Order: sequence, then structure tokens, then C-alpha cells
Amino acid sequence: MNNIILIGFMGCGKSTVGFRLSYRLRRVLEDTDKLIERKEGRSISDIFALKGEDAFRRMETACLRELLLSQEEKIIATGGGLPMRQENHALLKQLGTVIYLRISAKNVWERLKGDTSRPLLQCAEPLAKIETLLDKRAPVYEAAADMIVDVDGKDMEQVLSELLDRIAEREGEKGGFFKESGRYENENFGN
Ligand code: S3P
Repeated sequence: MNNIILIGFMGCGKSTVGFRLSYRLRRVLEDTDKLIERKEGRSISDIFALKGEDAFRRMETACLRELLLSQEEKIIATGGGLPMRQENHALLKQLGTVIYLRISAKNVWERLKGDTSRPLLQCAEPLAKIETLLDKRAPVYEAAADMIVDVDGKDMEQVLSELLDRIAEREGEKGGFFKESGRYENENFGN
């Protein structure tokens, strides 16, 4: 499938970048956190508190399986911990091109200090937690990704234009021509 999937640590901009990408490429944006919240009828914080993290992780996998049922090419923003389940890697690959928005722990902290919506960061030492989690996750994000885009020191426009260039480049390598309307033209298939 030819979805564009954004992965990366909390605060790296998956939802915001995803929103802008969906507008530029005229594709629907799905966000796994929002899909789960809608299905459960409660916030991520409440799901963690009432059902626990393991249950939430199972919901993320179920969510990817549901996204695989759609034929429409979409932009998919994912929760920061989703790639940590090994079985999700194969599902992500089946869904399409996986893009890792890479951010430093310091920048995550700058963006998220004061945030109360991420249950994993509601602890005594959130910066230390960010550093430990990111150390553990970074190699997993890298392994799951087809493409890595660094976000530190860049504003949204720079990230967006780099992403659009890299996506067009990749589509070009596959022998097609990616138009910003989101249509994919490939001479091999005559459309
Ligand atoms: C999580 C990231 C969150 C959300 C949940 C757990 C994580 O999503 O899925 O709080 O484990 O990193 P964002 O990455 O969109 O903040």
C-alpha cells in the first residue's frame, strides 16, 4: 500500500506535520491516538489509567490492522510508542512508506514541558524519562523507517518542504511521478 506513515517520539510533530502533509497531498489524515480515543470513547490518559499500557498497546496493533483494510492512500500519524511492538513493524511496512521524524531529548523537553496529556511523562523526572525512553526507542524507530527526517533546528515549513522533496524523490526512484495532488503517475501502469 502507498500510505505515508509518520513515526517518532512524543512531541516530534507527527500530528502537526501530518495535518500539513494531508493538506498539501490532498490525502485524508488518520491519527492512531485519535482513532483509539474515538473507539474507546475516552482520552489516552484515561485508557492508560483504567485499562493499562499493555491494553493500549494491543489497541494500537488492532488500529494498524484496521487501517490495512482501507484502499485509500492516506497520511497516518502514529503514537510515539507504537513501533516498539515488533509485530507492528510488518504492519507498518505493509501500510506504506514509514517516515521517522527524529528529534533530540532536549527539544522534546522544550516542546512538552507542562504538557499533561502524555501519561508516560507524568512523573517526578520527565526529562530523565524522555532521555531513557528515547535512547531505547531511537534504534527501533530507525529500524522501522524507510526515511529519516531530522526536525531539530528546523521550523514547520522547512520540515514540510524537506518531506515533500524526499517523498517526491523516493517516488521518482520507484519509476513514478508523484504529484502534489496526491496522484501517483507511473508510465508502467499507463495512468
Ligand atoms: C506514547 C505517545 C503518545 C500516546 C501515548 C503513548 C508513547 O502519542 O500514544 O501517550 O508511548 O510515546 P504521541 O507520540 O502522539 O504523543
